[in-house]
Amino acid sequence: METLIQIENIHKIYNPGENEVRALDNVSLTIHHGELVAIIGHSGSGKSTLMNILGCLDVPTSGQYFLNGQDVSGLSDNQLSDIRNQEIGFIFQGFNLIANLDALGNVELPLIYRGIPRQRRRRLAALALKKVGLEARMKHKPNELSGGQQQRVAVARAVAAQPPVILADEPTGNLDTKSTQEIMDILKGLHKSGRTVIIITHDDDIARQTDRVIRIIDGKIQEDYYNNREDIHDEVEENNKSH
Ligand SMILES: Nc1ncnc2c1ncn2[C@@H]1O[C@H](COP(=O)(O)OP(=O)(O)OP(=O)(O)O)[C@@H](O)[C@H]1O
Ligand SMILES: [Mg+2]
Repeated sequence: METLIQIENIHKIYNPGENEVRALDNVSLTIHHGELVAIIGHSGSGKSTLMNILGCLDVPTSGQYFLNGQDVSGLSDNQLSDIRNQEIGFIFQGFNLIANLDALGNVELPLIYRGIPRQRRRRLAALALKKVGLEARMKHKPNELSGGQQQRVAVARAVAAQPPVILADEPTGNLDTKSTQEIMDILKGLHKSGRTVIIITHDDDIARQTDRVIRIIDGKIQEDYYNNREDIHDEVEENNKSH
């Protein structure tokens, strides 16, 4: 598998000086294209800090980050925002939908930033909403949708432009069990269709549903292991047989 993310000896220190917080303390990590990964840890362990760096929303205090082999530390803000637009779909715990736009309008927004013409935009947005089961809610504003539906709009927004990488920070943190499973099933489906999906969570049940679990404690990687390794081997064998 090709390397997607390679970070080496990353530190993130907020408020350097007397009140400094070492949010990430010498983190090194490699993630390949097509992986389904959970980054798990308690509140304050550094998960969102790591996700913001992986998503080029923030930069480390020190250390190196290669995304698709490219050293992103030397890039300008504009170049970083281009990478975000082209490569990464973001999903946040608080949905982050625009209140006065309907579902379709929210999903279209990142497509506008990508410079996709209006008609194609509409088509891609409608298709993404259909995929998350919301074709009957396209004209609804966020306050006319349930929490689970709002998060499905946010998922549609993240995937409409078909970015290769999905970064989700506590995507089910505000949802009940049923909506949580719906969102997880959608994320797993995206992984099956070839995307790299990275889910930040404090929930062991979520982590169990992924292929690989990276646990952070106090800004350090404590463990990094694969779930159901045998199943993965079986799948590989199946694939080999059918070729
Ligand atoms: N902008 C900031 N300025 C100063 N300290 C910060 C800032 N952002 C985060 N921190 C601190 O860095 C540490 C890691 O925060 P982070 O948000 O990455 O944790 P988290 O694992 O995402 O927690 P949660 O599960 O509560 O979302 C915490 O101690 C937090 O207080
Ligand atoms: Mg967080």
